Amino acid sequence: MPFSDYKTALVTGASSGIGAAIVERFRRENIEVHAVARSEDALKELAARMGCIPHAIDVTDRNAIAKLAQEHDFDILVNNAGVDRPKKFLEADESDIDLLVDVNLRAVLHICRLVVPGMVARDRGHVVNISSIAGNYNFGGNSTYHAVKAGVAMLSNQLRIDAFGKRVRVTEVCPGRVATDIFNHVHGNDPSVRERFIDGFELPQASDIADAIAFAIAAPVAVNIGHMEITPTLQVMGGLQTAKPSTERAKP
Ligand SMILES: NC(=O)c1ccc[n+]([C@@H]2O[C@H](COP(=O)([O-])OP(=O)(O)OC[C@H]3O[C@@H](n4cnc5c(N)ncnc54)[C@H](OP(=O)(O)O)[C@@H]3O)[C@@H](O)[C@H]2O)c1
Repeated sequence: MPFSDYKTALVTGASSGIGAAIVERFRRENIEVHAVARSEDALKELAARMGCIPHAIDVTDRNAIAKLAQEHDFDILVNNAGVDRPKKFLEADESDIDLLVDVNLRAVLHICRLVVPGMVARDRGHVVNISSIAGNYNFGGNSTYHAVKAGVAMLSNQLRIDAFGKRVRVTEVCPGRVATDIFNHVHGNDPSVRERFIDGFELPQASDIADAIAFAIAAPVAVNIGHMEITPTLQVMGGLQTAKPSTERAKP
């Protein structure tokens, strides 16, 4: 049970959904959990309930993250904070592209830069990066989200190379649809949003993702579970589309 080897964790995106469930799961193992998100009240409520240490920080605030990384030796790092702004790429907003790159990829790179060298130096650590099936498969949605999540997937593989020779494990968790409030955070609080994404579907819960992460961490130190794709049973990826042209080709 390597949980007993680990004392401290940093979990980003801890104020709701998968991140909050991970905090809860880690606290059950008596890990000292540093919970990062922007929503101070939600973090305070989680801290009161679970005894984690709240940090109301934006993951894009590099100085604040650097201070946190300097002050603590994290054994477990979970890069979970994420946002989406679904829109066809041909209609993409400039600010949405920047937001997704900044939160979903740039922050993950910098947090790894700040935390992983300490793990390597101590010969002990486990990095868990939450990507998405969007990083591995093509389907309609938001191409920027697909691109940045693919970056997280490749970073996870590369970290294994960079930490090679040390007992630093890296797990990429690649969820399909999970029953969280992400859909409300993305599409607003209209009841139709839950009907479209949650109600009537049989979906993994945030706690199922946390349990899968706990399984990877609890494996013997000699075992690295590198990639976990977790989808609803009633969800598949893939598909092939072939279109007939809708217009005549223009004569050169
Ligand atoms: N749910 C799904 O179906 C699904 C599927 C595939 C992948 N994922 C991935 O799973 C992860 C967690 O998603 P979720 O479903 O739990 O969504 P969620 O309930 O919307 O949670 C997202 C978390 O990220 C935090 N966050 C967002 N921007 C942040 C920032 N700039 N700085 C710090 N924290 C920030 C949010 O907290 P604040 O707003 O308080 O900052 C919140 O705690 C994300 O990376 C998401 O892309 C989810």
